[in-house]
Amino acid sequence: MERLTSSARLMIVSDLDHTMVDHHDPENLSLLRFNSLWEHAYRRDSLLVFSTGRSPTLYKELRKEKPLLTPDVTIMSVGTEITYGNSMLPDHGWVDTLNNKWDLRVVKEETGNFSELTLQAETEQRPHKVSFYVDKSKAHQVTKELSQRLEKRGLDVKIIYSGGMDLDILPQGAGKGQALAYLLKKLKSEGNLPVNTLACGDSGNDAELFSVPDVYGVMVSNAQEELLKWHAENAKDNPKVIHAKERCAGGIIQAVGEFKLGPNLSPRDVSDFLECKADENVNPGHEVVKFFLFYERWRRGEVENSEAYLASLKASCLHDGVFVHPSGAEKSLVDTIDELRKYHGDKQGKKFRVWVDQVLATESAHGTWIVKLDKWEQSDDERRGCTTAVKFTAKEGEGLVWERVEQTWSEESKLKKDDSSWII
Ligand code: GLC
Ligand code: MG
Repeated sequence: MERLTSSARLMIVSDLDHTMVDHHDPENLSLLRFNSLWEHAYRRDSLLVFSTGRSPTLYKELRKEKPLLTPDVTIMSVGTEITYGNSMLPDHGWVDTLNNKWDLRVVKEETGNFSELTLQAETEQRPHKVSFYVDKSKAHQVTKELSQRLEKRGLDVKIIYSGGMDLDILPQGAGKGQALAYLLKKLKSEGNLPVNTLACGDSGNDAELFSVPDVYGVMVSNAQEELLKWHAENAKDNPKVIHAKERCAGGIIQAVGEFKLGPNLSPRDVSDFLECKADENVNPGHEVVKFFLFYERWRRGEVENSEAYLASLKASCLHDGVFVHPSGAEKSLVDTIDELRKYHGDKQGKKFRVWVDQVLATESAHGTWIVKLDKWEQSDDERRGCTTAVKFTAKEGEGLVWERVEQTWSEESKLKKDDSSWII
């Protein structure tokens, strides 16, 4: 969070399963649309927070399966674990507050009396979260009896039913809503309360997010019955909470537009962005997002195989610009673009996708910018990533031109042998 020295323009706090991630869309289109919108228009001055029921183990698994961006803050295990930054530094202060009237041993003992409860995987049992599966028809009764029993034993817990099957038991002070309130308080104390906050969710454990004061909320179109019911009973007159018409990340983008929280046109929804160049040249991050999107479309064969595109790309590079491939090989930028010619459509039918993460631009000297980012390529089921640094120079009358692109493999990608299809 130290990345931002002033208030975030927008803080998006989103659940993952069935909210940011659409498990019914193998192409991940709405997620990819969100990603390019975020990197294009928000990354530099806004905060991305993921708030998931998953434990750190299952969260990391999801990251391998889906093209998720790297959030600034990760809230896991239904608001019982908060971590910051790429290295996921835990917030110990938060954990300390959760021990109030909480005793894991007693929770385990009491839940043992309910044959309706089936314990979830070991990874999902956390210091401040005990999780079961329970049939929809039994959930209400079990919740009632269990709270009474735990209260009698001196505990103060919160029992949450989500997704029509999951039952979580947490300390009363935990949960996604409390974790968000804690985060907002922390940001406020640092003088950096976000200008706007948008909470996004689909199921029971997200309900609390929508009761945090002053926060906008979106329930995605595919929200679960238990969340819609909660909304009808508790929040239906709150104009700051909407039920989107679009599924998952599409619903998040829709809410950004409806609440007027900032740009809501994803670069992925623009079919010919190479044409709409000139006026946007002030932000070199935009150039990078647009270029890699073009590169994806070129290799998928979705844009015309036209010399005009290559000529326009070459025109935006210094004639002696250099590209350093992650293998270490150096080429001229212009030659690299010429090479693209033979790769047009080579990834057709291969579920080829390219996305960029953590695009951050800094002006290194007057008129010179360095843009750093992680670039990912997925082809069928293989994924590869590299850290990329692009140097841009402002040229009189031409806007920004590409001067140097330098890439190094990310840790996992180093182990893979074949780099023949990694062009740029
Ligand atoms: C995630 C967690 C699970 C929890 C559920 C609802 O699926 O893995 O433990 O019960 O979210 O919060
Ligand atoms: Mg969910």
